Amino acid sequence: MERKKILEIKGLSKYFGGIKAIDNIDMELYEKEIVAIVGDNGAGKSTIIKTISGVYQKTAGEIFIYGNKANINNPSDAKEYGIETVYQDQGLIPILTAASNLFLGREKIRSNILGKLFKFTDDRYMKNETEKLLDQLDVNLKDINAPVYNLSGGQRQTVVVGRAVYWGGKILIFDEPTNNLGVKQERRVLDLIKKLREEFNLSIIVISHNIAHIFELVDRIIVLRNGKIVGEKLKNETNTNEIVSMITGVVVA
Ligand SMILES: Nc1ncnc2c1ncn2[C@@H]1O[C@H](COP(=O)(O)OP(=O)(O)OP(=O)(O)O)[C@@H](O)[C@H]1O
Ligand SMILES: [Mg+2]
Repeated sequence: MERKKILEIKGLSKYFGGIKAIDNIDMELYEKEIVAIVGDNGAGKSTIIKTISGVYQKTAGEIFIYGNKANINNPSDAKEYGIETVYQDQGLIPILTAASNLFLGREKIRSNILGKLFKFTDDRYMKNETEKLLDQLDVNLKDINAPVYNLSGGQRQTVVVGRAVYWGGKILIFDEPTNNLGVKQERRVLDLIKKLREEFNLSIIVISHNIAHIFELVDRIIVLRNGKIVGEKLKNETNTNEIVSMITGVVVA
């Protein structure tokens, strides 16, 4: 069966003054596929992500979603196209609960007169939805009413991921998802990413410096050097040494 192409990028470039942060990037992402973008510091990984997710305006190039040209000028445009980006801790308000963070800016208003007149929020509904969602994602919060600053880094990240999934993200992008996490939390995040593909049918792009995690998670690896793609390999057709050589441009014996 032909797999569906979810995302296609053609000739994507982003210059900062004279610096070509990324230059003429072509890339594809298929249904239920996990792709890694790897490269040394400054290679352009985050710039690709930020350009796709509307944080940066592209200098040149085109982005297609399900084969249709997408017009992405800011982060909410990207969300409209089902592109959700997850940076660790990003976008959570520490003093709010998981439920309040999940519904931040999209609060459920009560359907009764209090809601109609005074915009009273339906806190019970939002809490129930949050519990259901976290349950689906296998996350167990000791206290659902606690502010998210009480959560571990891994749990906070799950709330961010949960929000992306809940609001209909089809393409999830993770920039260094296991950075600064303990070993146990790392394991949970890796398992969560696999679950998102298997059970939620999402397509995923992962940026990581951790080659072991990449080899565990992904189907395909795209290597960047100085803003250009220098190689692309199916995981099953390559190995750590080859990828490291491609990243550094130095052949490892
Ligand atoms: N906002 C910006 N203004 C100017 N230059 C930038 C900006 N963002 C990135 N760059 C430059 O673009 C290049 C690519 O940076 P980018 O952050 O995409 O690299 P990266 O691969 O994500 O690196 P790292 O692994 O360190 O996160 C670098 O030379 C960087 O200095
Ligand atoms: Mg980066």
